[in-house]
Amino acid sequence: MNEARNHRIVVTQRGGPAVLQLVEENLPEPASGEVRVKVIAAGVSAYDVMLRSRRFPKFPRPPFTPGEDIVGVVDKLGYGVAGVAEGDLVAGWTMGRGGGYTEYICMSAPEVVPVPQGVDPAEAVAIVVNYLTAHMALHGAAGVRSGERILVHGAAGGVGSALVQLGKLAGLEVYGTASQPKHEVVVELGATPIDYRNEDFVKRIRSLTGDGVDVVFDPVAGGRQLWRSYRALRKGGRLVMVGMVSSEENGIRAIPFSLLTIGLLKLLPDGKRLPLTGGMEELPKDNARYRETLAEFLDWLAAGKIKPVMAAEVPLAEAARAHELLERGTRSGKVVLVTGD
Ligand SMILES: NC(=O)c1ccc[n+]([C@@H]2O[C@H](COP(=O)([O-])OP(=O)(O)OC[C@H]3O[C@@H](n4cnc5c(N)ncnc54)[C@H](OP(=O)(O)O)[C@@H]3O)[C@@H](O)[C@H]2O)c1
Repeated sequence: MNEARNHRIVVTQRGGPAVLQLVEENLPEPASGEVRVKVIAAGVSAYDVMLRSRRFPKFPRPPFTPGEDIVGVVDKLGYGVAGVAEGDLVAGWTMGRGGGYTEYICMSAPEVVPVPQGVDPAEAVAIVVNYLTAHMALHGAAGVRSGERILVHGAAGGVGSALVQLGKLAGLEVYGTASQPKHEVVVELGATPIDYRNEDFVKRIRSLTGDGVDVVFDPVAGGRQLWRSYRALRKGGRLVMVGMVSSEENGIRAIPFSLLTIGLLKLLPDGKRLPLTGGMEELPKDNARYRETLAEFLDWLAAGKIKPVMAAEVPLAEAARAHELLERGTRSGKVVLVTGD
């Protein structure tokens, strides 16, 4: 009898996409309280690219397996698991541990949430990290109120497109920066696009709104970008940094520069605020909130209320190609690895 084997992607050393290698190994066994999930789809993100290519004190050391979110079928239960059954289709976030680029993964049972029938696993996985991040930024850090105006940078990207969709559902007036070829996507999501490469977004926001926006969500960051985002705010506005895309171009030094800029901007006595988003990091401490929010988004997906922008589905074994696609940056939305099951 052929024993089933697991295939998993490993970052063998820091470097380009070619450092992502497929390894074969025994199936992982669920510990007490864990479920084993046969993965169907795993999310790929700009964060994974950063972990693969850059050194930073808190980043894991190779060898490690990236991947923050998965969707798959529960195929084995550890001792004492209740409320989840073999055969259930589930989605989950790996709580910052990574490990999603794999055929089989063991996760604590409360980390997985049922996926409603009829939902496409690739679309479901595109919801997990991006929509939870967007939710925390919109309703946690920024505390948006219906009728407010927001500017979302990278509006056609994974987190950006989630911010636009959830922002529209919260009754906000949404403006979004994106490169020109992605404007159609931004318009379809319901936002007014701004071509940040060919126009000054601060001037454009002023001409479109008069006095600026209530909130800017900035996944790009970097000193100059954050300063300009701050200037796009109206009096009493809030600037929320949700990522660090600029580190792809400017290197990891973008991180201390961004944090320093935020510290300096906080000193300005003009009534504007820079609330920090705990982002996803807050959720492991609040499992009920994590489960309720993710379950609600998966229900919304099943009902057609939200629809993630999908960039590409790539076989797990071709994870290097998935990273190349993301780094090229020509496609909008989420890149997903699929196992073919
Ligand atoms: N805090 C959290 O918990 C959390 C969770 C998930 C992700 N993140 C972070 O959020 C960031 C975005 O991740 P992602 O997966 O959404 O990346 P992504 O899908 O690659 O999207 C990034 C987008 O930014 C756009 N962009 C690049 N430079 C820009 C600029 N100067 N101005 C405006 N747009 C620009 C890109 O397209 P165009 O330039 O072609 O428009 C692209 O659409 C990453 O830094 C990631 O680490 C944070």
